[in-house]
Amino acid sequence: MRKQIIMLPGDGVGREIMEGAKAVLNAVAGEYHHEFIFHEHAIGGDAIDRYGIPLPEETVKACGSADAVLLGAVGGPKWDDVEAAKRPERGLLGIRKSLGLFANLRPVTGFSSLVHSSPLKTEIVDGCDILIVRELTGGLYFGTPSERRDGGNSVVDTLRYTRLEIERIVEKGFESAMMRNGRLTSVDKANVLESSRMWREVVNEKAQHYPDVEVEHLLVDAAAMKLITNPKQFDVIVTENLFGDILSDEASVLTGSLGMLPSASVRTDGVGLYEPVHGSAPDIAGQDIANPLGMILSSAMMLRHSFGMEDEAEEIERAVNDTLEAGFHTADLDLKKGRIVGTQEMAKKVIENLSTKSISNAICSS
Ligand code: NAD
Ligand code: IPM
Ligand code: MN
Repeated sequence: MRKQIIMLPGDGVGREIMEGAKAVLNAVAGEYHHEFIFHEHAIGGDAIDRYGIPLPEETVKACGSADAVLLGAVGGPKWDDVEAAKRPERGLLGIRKSLGLFANLRPVTGFSSLVHSSPLKTEIVDGCDILIVRELTGGLYFGTPSERRDGGNSVVDTLRYTRLEIERIVEKGFESAMMRNGRLTSVDKANVLESSRMWREVVNEKAQHYPDVEVEHLLVDAAAMKLITNPKQFDVIVTENLFGDILSDEASVLTGSLGMLPSASVRTDGVGLYEPVHGSAPDIAGQDIANPLGMILSSAMMLRHSFGMEDEAEEIERAVNDTLEAGFHTADLDLKKGRIVGTQEMAKKVIENLSTKSISNAICSS
C-alpha cells in the first residue's frame, strides 16, 4: 500500500523521537512492500519561530488531505511568555479541533520486562492493561476564557459540553469495551459538576444498547487513587478532556515511564493523528536520551487504526517487547539490569527485532 504520512515533529524531544519512529516505519515498509511517503510540516514553537503562529494554515490543509498524521510534541520554556492565543499548545489543540479528532485512545499496557521499573509494587502493576478513552475537543480546553476582571484578580474558564459531544465519546468507550474485556468505567465529578451529571445520564442511556458491557461510575478523585492501588480493576476508562489528560499521565507510572505511552486521536472516520502522551520534555531535549517507544508505539497504532495493517502493527509491538526483554532501555526506565541506550539506538534495536532487517523503500519528501 502507498500512504501519505504527515510528520509534525514540533518541539523539544519531538524531532528526536520522530526520527526513531520514521526509521521503524521505513523498515516495516520495506518488509511488507508498502510505500510510506513522509511530508514534514511545522507546528507549535517550531511554527512560531518560522511563521509567527503555532498552526499555519498549510499544516492544517496538509493534515486534512493526508492518510495519517504523526505528531511529536509541542511547547517549551522558550515560548512560555508568548500571548495565550499564540502559545505552542494552541497549535496542538487547533489541529485536534480542526480535524475533528474527538476521541483520544490512550492504551496503558505494562510490558512484563518493565514491572520493576515502576515505583509501585510488582503485584499491583504486573499484567495491567487499560485503555483510557479521553474526550479531546470539548470541555475546559475549548471554553473561551474571560478577560481578567476586578483589577486582574478574577477570571473565568468555561466547561461546556453538548449532549452530542458526550454521546459520541461515550459510544467510543462502549465500542472499545466490546472489543476488549467488556468493562467500562466512566469517570466524572457528578457530585459537583452539572456537565458530569449530564455525562452520567448519557452513559446510563447508552448502557441500554450495550447489555454485554459492565458499567461502573467513579468520581475522578477516587478513580485517581484506584488507578494506582488497584489498576487491574480497570478495562476501559471513558472520561472528559481534562480528567483524561491528568489520569493518563498518572497511569503511565504503571508502565514505568511516561515515555512509554502512545495514543491515537481519531474521529468516527477519516484522518487520524498519532502522538505519544508525553510532552516536549525540555529538561532532556537535544541529548539523545528521550524514550522513543511512546512515539514508535503510536506509529504502530497508526498502522492499525488508519491503514488496517494489523500484522505490521503487531510486529512493531512485538519488536518493542523483544527489545525490552533483551534488556535494552532508555534512561527514564529505572531498571537495575540491562543496558541503557540512547534514543536513536533504541529505535535501531527495535528495527533489529523486526522479522527481517530489510532496507526501506520508503520515500522522504519535503
Ligand atoms: P513532559 O511530558 O514534557 O515531561 C514530564 C517529565 O517526563 C519530564 O521529566 C520529562 O523529561 C519526562 N519525559 C517526558 N517524555 C519523555 C520521554 N519520551 N523519555 C524520557 N522522559 C520523558 O511534561 P512537562 O515538562 O510538564 O511539559 C513540557 C512542555 O511540553 C510544556 O510546554 C507542555 O505544554 C508540553 N506538553 C506537550 C504535549 C504534547 O505535545 N502532546 C504533552 C504534554 C506536555
Ligand atoms: C497532552 C498534552 C496536551 C493536552 C497539552 C500540551 C495541550 O498535555 O496531549 O496530553 O493537555 O491535551
Ligand atoms: Mn497531557
